[in-house]
Amino acid sequence: MPTIKERDKEAIWHPYTAIKAWPEAIAIVKGQGVHLIDEDGNSYIDAISSWWVNLHGHAHPYIAGRVSEQVATLEHCMFAGFTHEPAVQLAERLLEILPAGMKKIFYSDNGSTAVEVALKMVLQYWNNRGIKKNKILALQNAYHGDTFGAMAVSGRSVFTEAFTDFLFEVDFIPSPAGGNGDNAVAVLERYLQNGDVAAFIVEPLVQGSAGMQMYDADTLEILFQLCKKYRALIIADEVMTGFGRTGPLFACDYIHTSPDIICLSKGLTGGAMPMGVTAVTQDIFDAFYGDADKMLYHGHSYTANPTICAAALASLDLLLLDSCTEDRRRIIRSHAAFAETIRDHSLVADVRQMGTIIAIEIVTDTPSYHNNLRDVMYRFFLGKKIIMRPLGNIIYILPPYCITDNELGYIYKCINELLQLLAS
Ligand SMILES: Cc1ncc(COP(=O)(O)O)c(C=O)c1O
Repeated sequence: MPTIKERDKEAIWHPYTAIKAWPEAIAIVKGQGVHLIDEDGNSYIDAISSWWVNLHGHAHPYIAGRVSEQVATLEHCMFAGFTHEPAVQLAERLLEILPAGMKKIFYSDNGSTAVEVALKMVLQYWNNRGIKKNKILALQNAYHGDTFGAMAVSGRSVFTEAFTDFLFEVDFIPSPAGGNGDNAVAVLERYLQNGDVAAFIVEPLVQGSAGMQMYDADTLEILFQLCKKYRALIIADEVMTGFGRTGPLFACDYIHTSPDIICLSKGLTGGAMPMGVTAVTQDIFDAFYGDADKMLYHGHSYTANPTICAAALASLDLLLLDSCTEDRRRIIRSHAAFAETIRDHSLVADVRQMGTIIAIEIVTDTPSYHNNLRDVMYRFFLGKKIIMRPLGNIIYILPPYCITDNELGYIYKCINELLQLLAS
């Protein structure tokens, strides 16, 4: 009997995978808590929450139960002209916990589409209001997804290179990360003064794919205040930071000024199923009030799928338990203590933390996404039965909140072993 891995090789094209360098995928047959178990019985700690989606552990029985109930009651129905309890309840509950000012929820399928929808909304918002503003601003090194609009507002890199000619024009302001906040603020204001900025899109506090680059809440506050002053809309892309990753439920909770639009996905369903949300203020929604000439021309076949809404509702139940808040606090304390033990290591260029996310930048001569060190580190951790996906020379832990102190301790120990190995 061929293994899953062997059959996969015949039939599947994997995402973000160099086909020559990575001819084989590890076949996972079961998820349990923080662990993923492969077809040979190896159990791996999922230190990065399976591409940052998982909040409460894999195959969580409570989420599984709610999903199975829903799929047997109403599995799907189209969402134009129809609605259902799971979608309404999820919208109500999200609006309760989102930063102030969010009044309507638009559903889609993933993080990229949540961003795509936000971009279409801001452009049509100004169009519907009869005001000519069509410039989009984004941060250098941003990552907002892989569809064309999302790529356009992402930093130009190897990810977007082949599509450059087809990406709409965006002006990039310097990333505020690495103590560069004042510069980012100054450049943003210069662009805003032109009066043609439709929107500024930003990953609040942590630019994930750029290598968990972090910046302070005071800078975010000033960037947002400037946008308000010059009447440019703010899109906060909380696809990665949402649902507790930075400590509070949303990164925007660190500041007082609210964005106009918030994009969510990943942790929205606890990592069980794909879903995107674009949350907006009443002002944005009102700009689309009218007949067909005013409506938003956007929708997906599976918009607000009830089964997925049930997963999201179940995940919210778990997220809002006091024990989950305490778990996040425990992870934050644990990371902070570990950071101090390695900060002065000669091979550690930087160690930074934002809530439950810790990133360690390893000294290297070639700090690119595709450097050799990345592969060495990836394989090293796999050998230790830990799933890590370094971003170039940067390793990071972004764990499901159910990870235990022992499991965290084991990951820290392996990071120390890696540092020893690289130093030798
Ligand atoms: C901030 C941010 N926005 C958008 C996306 C795209 O999400 P998806 O992969 O679900 O399309 C990502 C994915 O990593 C992300 O980190």
